[in-house]
Amino acid sequence: MSQALPTGFLWGNSTSSMQTEGGQHEGGRGPSIYDPRPAGPNNMDWAVTIDEYHRYEEDFDLMQQMGMNCYRFQIGWSRVCPTGDGAFNEEGIAFYRAQIKALIARGITPMICLYHFDMPLALAEKYNGFLSRHVVDAFVRFGKRMVDEFADLVPYWITFNEQNLYSTSYARVYAGALEGGESDAAIYTITHHVMTAHAQVANYLHAKTDAKIGGMLAYEECYPATNNPRDILYARQINEFMNRNLLDVFVHGHYSNEWLTFTKTHRLQFDWQDSDQDAFDDLYSDFIAFSYYRSHSIDASRVPINTIPNRYLDYGMVHNSYTQANEWDWNVDPLGFRDIFTRVYNEYHLPMFAIENGIGIREPDTTEQIQDDYRIDYHRQHIQAMKDAIEQDGVEVIGYLGWGLIDIPSSGGNMDKRYGAVYVNRTNSEIRDLRRIPKKSFAWFKQVFESNGAALR
Ligand code: BG6
Repeated sequence: MSQALPTGFLWGNSTSSMQTEGGQHEGGRGPSIYDPRPAGPNNMDWAVTIDEYHRYEEDFDLMQQMGMNCYRFQIGWSRVCPTGDGAFNEEGIAFYRAQIKALIARGITPMICLYHFDMPLALAEKYNGFLSRHVVDAFVRFGKRMVDEFADLVPYWITFNEQNLYSTSYARVYAGALEGGESDAAIYTITHHVMTAHAQVANYLHAKTDAKIGGMLAYEECYPATNNPRDILYARQINEFMNRNLLDVFVHGHYSNEWLTFTKTHRLQFDWQDSDQDAFDDLYSDFIAFSYYRSHSIDASRVPINTIPNRYLDYGMVHNSYTQANEWDWNVDPLGFRDIFTRVYNEYHLPMFAIENGIGIREPDTTEQIQDDYRIDYHRQHIQAMKDAIEQDGVEVIGYLGWGLIDIPSSGGNMDKRYGAVYVNRTNSEIRDLRRIPKKSFAWFKQVFESNGAALR
């Protein structure tokens, strides 16, 4: 047995509401941009997903049996405020209050995320999502209300899931923009809008409560494909524009000097308002949260000139021959995980919180127990890498949450890409009985969580 982690270390599960809840037309919920998306050959529609709306007690029992002491979940904006900026829906608020109490009753610490790409449809149609200031204000109003409702019960908060994804070519999709939003300037506008929204909600939480809040990134380590100095430059710029720039805001309340200089030299205007400065001045983070699945490699020679660093990987991402990948070409790189813990902690000196990690696999369609040794291997290697960061590099870590440890559809709605230690009996085309059946890895996770990370074998 290896060493256990410090007492109070958090182990658990992590999900979004659109990938778990279903209950699309129940409890006074308003539609989000996911609702009209139809089922396809490789995805379900979003009406039922795994029916957490009705089955959360059963799933929390499973989490408790697995030895978890933390669950990160999301409050669906359109469930608690159907139009996004109109009247609040008390039934929706009561639903989340009941969930939080059910978690606490099982000794599971709740962690709330306020936005996971599911923009209320009304705000998308009327205002084009986070391209609009109105939506920033609506989000802040929603966030403050949730803080008022739940911060006495919920000690850990994040505003936006993977906030650096709003700095990519897909920003418009995550931001709920239905028209336009493809230009470089639009990416920078969306980046700034979500950062100012984050700052306002975080400041409110800090002013009114004792709860903790941190920024969250999808941190994907990016390596130069070769030791060509241009590959090295591009890898560094990707980290600066996609990660460090936002970390500087989360921790120090200002964008990075390099990023700001770039916006000036490239005339990228991004709707800065004077009140944003006040919000940034007051901003700080209690921890840095991140998701980690894989790493990337960049070949600069494939990137057209005049491409902004935010888009380098659209052109220059290449296979890393030193790592193996799953069917979706997501490579397995536990050393990258350790490096992120250590690099970010060395620079920002805040506790780190790994709130998503896992591997998506196509598994047998069976209600027999699934022998998912590959999943055990993946998590073992990543938990070991995290322990190395803690024990050998001195990093302070709050917890480790696996992504979708009870099967949920992928972000694209594909039930064939599963992350769970518990099988859920449905496919893309058939809802079936949604029965939960522990896989082999269930017992392994239980042993790891109950030994506080000591028993990894
Ligand atoms: C994260 C998202 O980026 O990756 C989740 O927060 C998503 O919503 C997870 O499910 C895994 O990605 P995918 O596409 O395999 O589901």
